[in-house]
Amino acid sequence: MEFTLSEEQLMIQQAARDFAETDLLPEVIERDDAQRFPEEQVKKMGELGFMGMMVEEKYGGSGMDTLSYVLVMEELSKVDASASVIVSVNNSLVCWGLQTYGTEEQKQKHLTRLASGEIIGAFCLSEPEAGSDATSQKTTAFDKGDHYVINGTKNWITNGGTAEVYLVIAQTDIDKGHKGINAFIVEKGMDGFEIGPKENKLGIRGSDTHSLIFNDVKVPKENRIGEDGFGFKFAMKTLAGGRIGIAAQALGIAAGAYELSKKYSKERKAFGTEIMNHQAIAFKLADMHTKIQAARHLVYKAAWDKDNGNNYDLSGAMAKLYASEVAMETAVEAVQVHGGNGFVKDYHVERLMRDAKITQIYEGTSEIQKIVISRSILRD
Ligand code: CAA
Repeated sequence: MEFTLSEEQLMIQQAARDFAETDLLPEVIERDDAQRFPEEQVKKMGELGFMGMMVEEKYGGSGMDTLSYVLVMEELSKVDASASVIVSVNNSLVCWGLQTYGTEEQKQKHLTRLASGEIIGAFCLSEPEAGSDATSQKTTAFDKGDHYVINGTKNWITNGGTAEVYLVIAQTDIDKGHKGINAFIVEKGMDGFEIGPKENKLGIRGSDTHSLIFNDVKVPKENRIGEDGFGFKFAMKTLAGGRIGIAAQALGIAAGAYELSKKYSKERKAFGTEIMNHQAIAFKLADMHTKIQAARHLVYKAAWDKDNGNNYDLSGAMAKLYASEVAMETAVEAVQVHGGNGFVKDYHVERLMRDAKITQIYEGTSEIQKIVISRSILRD
């Protein structure tokens, strides 16, 4: 069993840490307040190779492994989970999906621009009536010979307003249930494709989340991803990897909240001594550290499974379930350690607490992860 990171992994981890401190931290509170998308920072993350980390270099990516991607997600999320979800959706859901299942033409046309950070992408599965129950797609895409016509609404789409390329899941044959679902590449500006209002959210407020409306959107046949009827499996396989990215985001939020709490407990005095000298605080830090280390092992193991060709449905689901619970618990405790200061924005932990909540919801709620885990362990 190997518990050390390679030179290359240590370097990319340091690069992400430096970027988070110098480029994300300075205005993170203002972006959260104003719900402002980190446009310049996303551009720079493209230059640093963070937007297509696991994409082969010939398609504009960095050609790195999943563990390196997880390390970057963790460092970014310690400081700004809004920026890290933009990275996660682009890497895990959009680039990975296209690299793995796209045609050469689709890769040349879209993946190269997405992986280099020139443009960003969105993954569109959720609907007003199909969140956890993802097979109940109401968006339709009917075959009209050389093209499909898409109609319907998608909800809660990360990068919804800023993306140029959208991977859209839709029902092509209602009678076939999930076997009659397909995935399509929809481009911004296509006739009939409208971006709905931006959601006003509890957390990850710097990322833009929108509903999307499709009114007779004509999509050429060559924009379908994979064989006819592959769309639901495409979504499931893509989300299995996406969950490792969100697990890493949750881990980063927890680690960020812990680091701030540790620092604060060494500075803040109460009853004549630094609060770290009170067991009530020291024990909280001990619990946080232990749980974060346990979450880290699960997240890195899931990434290792993916990098080593193992099935990662189970390890990814366990990593996301546990890391997101630890993120929420740690962030709540971090606010408590900070006392009154924890409740005001300047100290960052209240934002981390708000950001942590979504990690238990998107890319499969904690309850969905338990479905995936229980089905997997009870199968044999
Ligand atoms: N890999 C490959 N195939 C898979 C699979 C996987 N990981 N999981 C399921 N499938 C296949 C099944 O084998 C089955 O196919 P067959 O009939 O050919 O065997 C088919 O998919 C249907 O599977 P189920 O019968 O298990 O379907 P279900 O209705 O019971 O649902 C579920 C399964 C796991 C609960 C699924 O619906 C699910 O994951 N729901 C959550 C959806 C989700 O994560 N949404 C997040 C939205 S995206 C997002 O948040 C992005 C963002 O912007 C941040």
